[in-house]
Amino acid sequence: MTQKNLTITYHEFESENDLSSDEGKLLKEARNALENAYAPYSNFYVGAALIDEDGNTFIGSNMENASYPLCICAEGALLTAYNSSGSKAPITHVAITARSSSHDLSHPVAPCGACRQMLSEFEVKQGKQIKLILHGSSGPVCVLDSVKDILPLGFSGSDL
Ligand code: THU
Repeated sequence: MTQKNLTITYHEFESENDLSSDEGKLLKEARNALENAYAPYSNFYVGAALIDEDGNTFIGSNMENASYPLCICAEGALLTAYNSSGSKAPITHVAITARSSSHDLSHPVAPCGACRQMLSEFEVKQGKQIKLILHGSSGPVCVLDSVKDILPLGFSGSDL
């Protein structure tokens, strides 16, 4: 038996004002997108935005349904918008933020497991890392260099 250890490195910025201007701008786009969320059941509004190498930006927000399992996450909506646009330019950054109407989200909000898998699909497909910018509605911002950092030992098409 061998023990193997995985470590991840990420950067924590005290506030969104400490981000580079491009990253701060993308996070603002994600925050604007959150206002389009349809979340009458959870009252948890998620916004996501991405930028690709051609400078195209896309946004996504969560969309709920009275039949709860049909809820669509912001990240899935975002990737669908990007893919449907036909852009072939690799994604460089994805920003994700959330707001709850019941409590202050003062910690960075990370994507759910299914969304990590969807983000990973595009990172693997394009062969280039996607930088992640994660924020709540206030407080620190977490920046990771790759989706792989939040989905270690992931499943991909090469396993099929
Ligand atoms: N949600 C997202 O949009 N992204 C995630 O990564 C986690 C959860 C949404 C789904 C649902 O509308 C609400 O947040 C509460 O789970």
